[in-house]
Amino acid sequence: MKRRILLVDDEVNVRKALSTSLRKAGYDTKEAASGAEALEQIGQYEPDVMLLDLRMPEMDGMETLRRLKQAKSAQPSVIMMTAYGSANDVMEAMRLGAYDYVQKPFDLTQVKQVVAKALKPETGDEEGTMRPSQEEQTDCPGYLVGLSPAMQEVYKLVGKVSMTRATVLIQGESGTGKELIARAIHSNSPRADQPLIPVNCGAIPEKLLESELFGYERGAFTGAVARKPGLFEAANGGTLFLDEVGELTPSLQVKLLRVLQERTLVRLGGVEPIPIDVRIIAATNRDLQERIRLELFREDLYYRLNVVPIQMPPLRERKDDIPLLIRHFLTKFGRETGKEGCYLSPAAVELLNAYHWPGNVRQLENTIERAVVLASGPAILPEHVQLQLEETRKASHEAKERRGLQFEDRTMKDIISEVEKEAITRALQREKGNRLRTAKRLGISRSALLYKMDMYAIDVSEE
Ligand SMILES: Nc1ncnc2c1ncn2[C@@H]1O[C@H](COP(=O)(O)OP(=O)(O)OP(=O)(O)O)[C@@H](O)[C@H]1O
Ligand SMILES: [Mg+2]
Repeated sequence: MKRRILLVDDEVNVRKALSTSLRKAGYDTKEAASGAEALEQIGQYEPDVMLLDLRMPEMDGMETLRRLKQAKSAQPSVIMMTAYGSANDVMEAMRLGAYDYVQKPFDLTQVKQVVAKALKPETGDEEGTMRPSQEEQTDCPGYLVGLSPAMQEVYKLVGKVSMTRATVLIQGESGTGKELIARAIHSNSPRADQPLIPVNCGAIPEKLLESELFGYERGAFTGAVARKPGLFEAANGGTLFLDEVGELTPSLQVKLLRVLQERTLVRLGGVEPIPIDVRIIAATNRDLQERIRLELFREDLYYRLNVVPIQMPPLRERKDDIPLLIRHFLTKFGRETGKEGCYLSPAAVELLNAYHWPGNVRQLENTIERAVVLASGPAILPEHVQLQLEETRKASHEAKERRGLQFEDRTMKDIISEVEKEAITRALQREKGNRLRTAKRLGISRSALLYKMDMYAIDVSEE
């Protein structure tokens, strides 16, 4: 069956030119002289693509597009056409859900290319295309995605500990889902209808954190005009989630240890011990053993927290979960942005599968969100997948600081790439971005250096 194209323009000559050219290319076409006429025809004609002029008397192209998107009718891919293209028009049209944009006077070959591109998604998926997941439940907040053996182990532990009030220590790199697991433990526990109170121990200055956690009596310090119970008390009967627990200062470590041992606390400026019944879940992306060795973290506190350890596997060690996560995030962001039909082209999928995800699930989530926003049509192509360098470099730097270069479950190519990229980046920094001296230092040619910088998206400017 021929694919149908609706041509909407107030100028008859433009319609005729398009019609002749597209019919020759094997498409079926129909013409509409105004936006209103176009909207009327869509119901019966059900076009696959609509070429829509922006400037038309009465209802202009933008308004037509807006009404089309609100209508319950068939939704063709819309290609906007205009003689006076401005950045604002382009952005507005894309925001309203146009597939693409061509400028008049147009080259008919280019129009045919854009039409062909707009039609491609409908011709059946190429092998390797990835679409949003269909299951509804993946949409609820806190839903955990991942069926890899490593995640199954985590789920089992969550199931086992949630019925107890044992203290849990969740360790893992940034973005691996530590907070999500803490929430899962709480919501599967008998305390689920009591509060779960998260505290980020790394983000609050020591003095403030102390009064936040333990509360204070009136007059405990200047400004303490009334008694205030702390977060421990607020979490009574429920769960306190101590995030970034590795950042606690030595004096707060002592205080926390005391609460864990005695199950009571004394407010700042107070004398009476207050009994508390709080389940503690702590999390950190630091290597606590290492911090103990450096005498930055108390060993006795570590044992008190580490009653049940849960180790979150990094994403690169459970690559089987990547496709599931991609589908999950496609659904999520497709829905949020009104681009439900979004799917990943096979080349984009390949890119995501090959990457080593130093920022783990969070980075994958951000990458898909950005790609959904950047894609102008339903297809997400490699150019929409930006594996942001800054984020990557920072995360991999942090990761390396923590655990050295990781060899397990990685291909040789992957490992070598990481080392190579790191070496080039450092040499560039040392040579203040000077390409020639960097190449000399590394014993490669300048063109080889430029090639590799391009390949690894290394971006160090020349001073
Ligand atoms: N298994 C998963 N399924 C679905 N979403 C996940 C999963 N793991 C993580 N996420 C998502 O990734 C993001 C990061 O997760 P989370 O905040 O739990 O990580 P974290 O380990 O606490 O990171 P950080 O150490 O940086 O605080 C969140 O938006 C979370 O919803
Ligand atoms: Mg966290």
